[in-house]
Amino acid sequence: MALYSEKVMDHFRHPRNVGVIEDADGVGEVGNPVCGDIMKIYLKIDGDIVTDVKFETFGCGSAIASSSMATEMIKGKPVSEVLTLTNKAVTEALDGLPAHKLHCSVLAEEAIKKAVKDYYDRNGIPYDPAQFPEEEEEGGACRFR
Ligand code: FES
Repeated sequence: MALYSEKVMDHFRHPRNVGVIEDADGVGEVGNPVCGDIMKIYLKIDGDIVTDVKFETFGCGSAIASSSMATEMIKGKPVSEVLTLTNKAVTEALDGLPAHKLHCSVLAEEAIKKAVKDYYDRNGIPYDPAQFPEEEEEGGACRFR
């Protein structure tokens, strides 16, 4: 069996939603100091719906494929639903990732959640801080390339 699914290869070679939203309503950036990969998510939100999303990922192929798939999964969705997106759902939508690459999909989940938190903060919308991951000081789970 090939190491990467056809979907992973497709989203890696032809990533969807790459770019920047200059007037984004929420921006989330996460990085992993161990592998050095960085992911940045931009959200445009109108009436609680994610009307546009773009990403910049400086990282491995799995991180790029995960960003691409995750952005496709949240576009057009209400913010409350976006917050329920898990890296597991992203991985399943990609027809799986190798075990040692699962952590790359975590970056996508965290960057999206951070962008929503930024949107809430900018607009003074109250939220439960427990919904959002702690700021990562250490390298997290990403130890492989
Ligand atoms: Fe660091 Fe994939 S995100 S190796």
